[in-house]
Amino acid sequence: MTTKNFQQALNEEFSQQTYGENPVELYEPIRYLMALGGKRMRPLMTLMATALFTDDWQKAVKPASAVEVFHNFTLMHDDIMDNAPLRRGKPTVHEKWNANIAILSGDVMLVQAYELLMEVEDSRFKKAMKRFNRTAAEVCEGQQLDMNFESREQVTEAEYLEMIKLKTSVLLGFALELGGIIAGASDKSCELLYEIGINIGLGFQLKDDLLDVYGDPEKFGKQVGGDIISNKKTFMLIEAIEKASGETKELLDKWLNIKTFDNVEKVKAVTEIYDSLGIKQLAETKINAYFDKGLRCLDALKVDEERKTELRAFAEMLIDREV
Ligand code: IPE
Ligand code: IPE
Ligand code: MG
Ligand code: MG
Ligand code: MG
Repeated sequence: MTTKNFQQALNEEFSQQTYGENPVELYEPIRYLMALGGKRMRPLMTLMATALFTDDWQKAVKPASAVEVFHNFTLMHDDIMDNAPLRRGKPTVHEKWNANIAILSGDVMLVQAYELLMEVEDSRFKKAMKRFNRTAAEVCEGQQLDMNFESREQVTEAEYLEMIKLKTSVLLGFALELGGIIAGASDKSCELLYEIGINIGLGFQLKDDLLDVYGDPEKFGKQVGGDIISNKKTFMLIEAIEKASGETKELLDKWLNIKTFDNVEKVKAVTEIYDSLGIKQLAETKINAYFDKGLRCLDALKVDEERKTELRAFAEMLIDREV
């Protein structure tokens, strides 16, 4: 019952999944993006959560894969919205094909996610579906807020946290909760699983924002500086706007309002402002706090401590991730 077994089961599942043939333009991008892999951590979380309560975690493999297919659908569309050139070290779908293809391929992936979720056994299916639908709507809400905030001058930290909770954390929460639902865990346990995922998710998105500035381009697989280029109101930018004064404030304002600029120059300038204000350390402290909170929720879960080892190790590993 090790992480390796879970990963192996997921890899097998994804390697035998077929997404459709004709028209080839509709289905090829799905194969392309899914084959690029990524961490596949959401389905792993589902399997780990199921295994907290039962040894029969194999029954969760297909529904778990639904969460990953859904996640990949959101990435395909997110990359259009964020004008992102790179995903997992390769050209994004809208760059390699075009935006219309990325929209439609993404749409059919969402349908495929539903197909896979139907593998939850009948008596637990309705709850799973209800929670999934709520989650999917919230992800859209978060994505819209994320875009709204790009052109807003003032965004509070609380608004940012609510936005990342919606666009990212709820899916991690659902991934864990789904594992509990499939295992037939109590409502109380399912709620705690969701809380664990929410807090880990907040730490995870804060870390994603940090890597977007400070990640190693060789490892990160996405365009470093993309958030700075599009004025994403990340925790780091919000803190910088609040902390900057005098010349630094003027400089930051200039870069936030400039209409035509050289991407490399803007990323370098804003990163230097972050450096001068100690923003990286602030973000790291915040990241640790949310992961800690998630781990404390895991402590509260009424399951043998031994069974929690893997999920705990997994969360700790995520804190230091570079990808
Ligand atoms: C990227 O998710 C989108 C965010 C919510 C930050 P991941 O970092 O899990 O991406 P992959 O699936 O491993 O590529
Ligand atoms: C992504 O947030 C959230 C969703 C895909 C729903 P980001 O836009 O920060 O994710 P990346 O950095 O492109 O992976
Ligand atoms: Mg985005
Ligand atoms: Mg993005
Ligand atoms: Mg990001």
